[in-house]
Amino acid sequence: MKNIFIDDLEFELMIDYEQIQKRIRLIGIDINLKYEDKHPVFVGVLNGCFMFMADLMKQVHIPCEMSFVKLASYSGTDQGDIHELIGVGMSLEGRHVVIVEDVVDSGRSLVHTIEALERLGVASISVATLLLKPECLLYSFDNIMYVGFEIEKEFVVGYGLDYNGQCRNLQNIYKNIPRT
Ligand code: IMP
Ligand code: MG
Repeated sequence: MKNIFIDDLEFELMIDYEQIQKRIRLIGIDINLKYEDKHPVFVGVLNGCFMFMADLMKQVHIPCEMSFVKLASYSGTDQGDIHELIGVGMSLEGRHVVIVEDVVDSGRSLVHTIEALERLGVASISVATLLLKPECLLYSFDNIMYVGFEIEKEFVVGYGLDYNGQCRNLQNIYKNIPRT
């Protein structure tokens, strides 16, 4: 498999599509068991989640609904920045929510997503993330239940993840090769 170049960076293959699908099938099995009677709502956080969400949902065979959101932030007053979810499009009050993320890096955006969902009165929240960078986490979470792959502190693209808006369309995941 050839390395790819985006602007000034070089990337090499890290996780291929087949490995991703295998992992997603296992996550699907877990979710089908855990949420069998819960009629969950899967909330995908755009843009990065779109491929993972699509493939994950094909492995979910229980009654469920889904929604796609964006995390919007704007400058607040004394309390600092305000974060809200745009595009929810349905009432989530009393619902069991599974947040679907492409990657959790520092965890900052996940914290804001969780807080925003809590303000909407959800019954429970768990998180399914394709990638997790444990070394980069600045917060601790007790609800990241489903993780595709734990990766090192490295920058990756493909399968929904971008660099400068590019490469979201790639089937495989590629990692940046640091320059020596
Ligand atoms: P956070 O630090 O966990 O809040 O992650 C913030 C956002 O940075 C993620 O939702 C991604 O959009 C982006 N991000 C973090 N790590 C990567 C990466 O390795 N590749 C592409 N985007 C990333
Ligand atoms: Mg994301």
